[in-house]
Amino acid sequence: MTTTESPVLDELTRRLARISGLDARALEQEHHEVLGRKAGLLTGALRSLADQDMAKRKTLGAELNRLKAKFEAAFAARREALEAAARRQERTTHDLTMPARTRWVGAEHPVTKVVADIVHIFHGMGFTRAVGPEAETEWYNFGALNFPPDHPAMDMHDTLYLDVGPRDEATEGRVLLRTHTSPVQIRTLQAYPPPIRVVIPGMVYRKDTFDPSHAPAFSQVEGLAVDEGITFVDLKADLIHFAREFFSPDTQVRFRPSFFPFTEPSAEMDVGCLLCGGTGCPACKQSGWMEILGCGMVHPRVLENCGVDPEVYTGYAFGMGPHRIAMLRYGIPDIRLLYEGDMRFLRQLGEDGP
Ligand code: DAH
Repeated sequence: MTTTESPVLDELTRRLARISGLDARALEQEHHEVLGRKAGLLTGALRSLADQDMAKRKTLGAELNRLKAKFEAAFAARREALEAAARRQERTTHDLTMPARTRWVGAEHPVTKVVADIVHIFHGMGFTRAVGPEAETEWYNFGALNFPPDHPAMDMHDTLYLDVGPRDEATEGRVLLRTHTSPVQIRTLQAYPPPIRVVIPGMVYRKDTFDPSHAPAFSQVEGLAVDEGITFVDLKADLIHFAREFFSPDTQVRFRPSFFPFTEPSAEMDVGCLLCGGTGCPACKQSGWMEILGCGMVHPRVLENCGVDPEVYTGYAFGMGPHRIAMLRYGIPDIRLLYEGDMRFLRQLGEDGP
């Protein structure tokens, strides 16, 4: 490095040599310190030429201007080099030949959708949603619902009992996984005075193994309406309205007599086969009809068991299976498809899917 009589020139020469090694931030700082309009070292030196004598002004001035041009070139070159390096870096971290990744859009599971639609339709008819425990006692699941003590459904072959250790079984019996959502009728009647209109979605459990039409855990939606003066006409009108909202306005509906311990009279409701429209096909076993729910007038003994006076109040109840209804609605031949979580299957049905 050459030295001159001027300390400013020495300092500037030293700084000029360092520019090619500065990073982007240091480079801008250096630019500010050397060429900054107010406090820059070189700018200041040029400004103070005015105080020098004529000869000095000439030589020093020429030298400073030469340095200024060199600095400007050096800053420009370094900036350019840093930008080129950044571009190179970007090219190596982003592989532009990689296939674009499409965005994942989630979709509602068909059973979730069916449950939401059912609850929504009854909500429009003045029903609210209620829920209850999945681990129940024999009294809530069977006894209070007027099942006789020796009913075959209580058999160890159908019901999953829980071993919850020593407890007082005298009042409510053993603990089990509820086999239907009907015990929540009892809990609702105990907790709220009529008028009551509730829909109760939830999972239920039975000692079944998986096959095309059975699963050990599946969904149900229970309904309960208790008020003064409710009759079978209300049951029919409300359930027909539901079927036409849920399926389509021209859905055919029929009621067949049936039996449940907790309703009297009891019925099952069929809708015209969704696949063949009633002419007969394998899905409806050539009958033209598909069963979608059980229902009936709440048995007076059930009301009594909950402290509700059957002389004052009457009610209807119903229960349906969203897994089964999803199979009917979407033409799904095997219930296991609704449990496997296979994305190829779910994407086909997911109404919000890609
Ligand atoms: N609990 C019945 C079942 O699991 C379904 C059912 C039928 C519920 C009739 C009801 C009803 O509330 O009135 O098979």
